[in-house]
Amino acid sequence: MNTRRKLVVGNWKMHGSRKGNAELLEGIVAARPFGCDVAVCVPFPYLAETAVALAASDLRWGAQDCSAHEQGAYTGEVSAAMLHEFGCRYVIVGHSERRAYHGEGDQLVADKAKAALARGVTPIVCVGETLAQREAGETEAVVKRQLSAVIHTLAHCASEMVVAYEPVWAIGTGRTATPGQAQQVHALLRAQLLAATPHAPGMKILYGGSVKPDNARELFAQPDIDGGLIGGASLKAADFVAICRAADAT
Ligand code: PGA
Repeated sequence: MNTRRKLVVGNWKMHGSRKGNAELLEGIVAARPFGCDVAVCVPFPYLAETAVALAASDLRWGAQDCSAHEQGAYTGEVSAAMLHEFGCRYVIVGHSERRAYHGEGDQLVADKAKAALARGVTPIVCVGETLAQREAGETEAVVKRQLSAVIHTLAHCASEMVVAYEPVWAIGTGRTATPGQAQQVHALLRAQLLAATPHAPGMKILYGGSVKPDNARELFAQPDIDGGLIGGASLKAADFVAICRAADAT
């Protein structure tokens, strides 16, 4: 338990349809008020409609990636300035699916985080080890390396990011890190942030990886877990709302 306000972020990944999204957002809006901050990170084409659907609420929205470049001949890329224009409060950067399937390395992730902050969009920077790395005892080294690139690149602005610890082996697998396992890594990340910025005690570190209504509360009750980044369970209003309620209660 801590005094930081919790944040619950839905990561829709490449799911959704105009009709389905409208129903999902309606369900979340109807469940307000929440005692935590709530946001959804949606596929790019749905940003405009999401902005309209949530404009009158205190719910926030964002994207799942952005370019490290400001503008230019980068076919297929979307800039942080564009996200800002659509009212995005957040952008996920360095998700393990982008690291694994799109070859994104630590420095590129850090550059994306920097580009986002330069446009007033808060980056949610994902770090996390694979199962092989965990079994080899490399968890600490891996997450520290991933976070250190971002801390170094953001320098005095580092305190403005949100960090998300997402063990790769827990994403979409139904295999959640135990609250103790998650807390242990969160504490390491907090210590790393503390060494870099005096604002670290107020920074949010989210947990992600098979968070569900029935395990959210125990995870969110850990001293260094400040909410969640929710994949599969963010696609059903009832589940997502239940997770937000768990954050309210911790
Ligand atoms: P999951 O995904 O909740 O479906 O495991 C989390 C994420 O990848 O952000």
